[in-house]
Amino acid sequence: MTAVLPHGGTLINRVVEGQEREALLAEAEKLVSIPVSAWTISDLDLIGVGAYSPLTGFMREEDYRSVVNSMRLANGTVWSIPITLAITSGLAARLSLGERAALIGESDGLIYGIIDVESIYKVDKKHEALQVFKTDAREHPGVAKLFDRPDYYLGGSVLVLNRPKPEKFKEYYFDPAETRRFFAEKGWRTVVGFQTRNPVHRAHEYIQKSAMEIVDALFLNPLVGETKSDDVPANVRMKSYEALLDHYYPKDHVFLGVFPAAMRYAGPREGIFHAIVRKNYGCTHFIVGRDHAGVGDYYGTYEAQDLLRAFAPEELGITPLFFEHSFFCAKCGSMASRKTCPHGKEDHLTLSGTKVRALLREGVCPPPEFTRPEVAEILIEGMSEASKSYSI
Ligand code: ADX
Repeated sequence: MTAVLPHGGTLINRVVEGQEREALLAEAEKLVSIPVSAWTISDLDLIGVGAYSPLTGFMREEDYRSVVNSMRLANGTVWSIPITLAITSGLAARLSLGERAALIGESDGLIYGIIDVESIYKVDKKHEALQVFKTDAREHPGVAKLFDRPDYYLGGSVLVLNRPKPEKFKEYYFDPAETRRFFAEKGWRTVVGFQTRNPVHRAHEYIQKSAMEIVDALFLNPLVGETKSDDVPANVRMKSYEALLDHYYPKDHVFLGVFPAAMRYAGPREGIFHAIVRKNYGCTHFIVGRDHAGVGDYYGTYEAQDLLRAFAPEELGITPLFFEHSFFCAKCGSMASRKTCPHGKEDHLTLSGTKVRALLREGVCPPPEFTRPEVAEILIEGMSEASKSYSI
């Protein structure tokens, strides 16, 4: 059985172990220190384990400009999201091309890795925002993050010397090499990846199960890196996924593993990125529904799907499965979409996020046609614990 090829053909591994690691840790002590945030550490680690194959480091200027302007690396490989390391102008002035620098966790002082200083460049963040997010409005959470970073980027290959240690749900962290091995052991020839930053509601379940009818298995791969503060916290979501899988999914056809990246909210471009990364984890198919990775009204409902369609299938190397907006239809007595249901809006159950939040805050389960009761209970509990409101 031949597994799906990683993007660019080879699964990158930049994690160093053993004596070589010891030697590099000693070297790192003497290098210029670059403080890195949790977000950057997650990108570093994902580069290290090959989730971002073919990237071997943070983007050099030519790759960055090519990705920002034409969604390709400089060698033509499709890539839609800049993976970059921002540094202050002061640090940029202290570094010289050809040297190495140490990547140090800004909150714990740990040496996470080493970078070859191959490219130092100043960026036009407004241009990046308009290209990547299609807006330069600070209200957009991805744009706000971008604008809060310094203006200089440092590009170059990295080596990972320490891996971030997950505090919670450790048992759901798998590297691409591990998921690939697991899928192969199971004999799954086709696996559909599902990206989510939300609890799985009935609409998600419907599109997952529709996809599961035509592939061997589902890789439920919730993003658990940084999200905006009003998204449901990852620990609550994880509990809800466990409950859902326990009650409603066949164990032999589902694999739950987290995606420890930060959410960019870049809509269509993030859809491409999400698909390629899931290919690296070994998926052959990837679900893209309504407003994938969107936020507010910045992107059209099916814009991510349109962008994925714009690339030749062999360039993506993973088959996107597109789904229309799904809902419960009272007349059909089932979940449906515009493609399968002839009835009008009055028969469709649609609840706004605000309404669902209000119900959960009052301790009331939304209708089972919207959310499984086992999931709703966990959200109600999570909501009262956090005593704050988050989007559902
Ligand atoms: S995302 O920002 O991580 O993409 P979310 O967790 O809401 O968001 O969605 C996960 C996947 O389910 C995305 O592909 C999204 O397009 C799809 N999706 C969410 N809700 C619906 C729905 N009601 N109908 C069809 N697809 C949906």
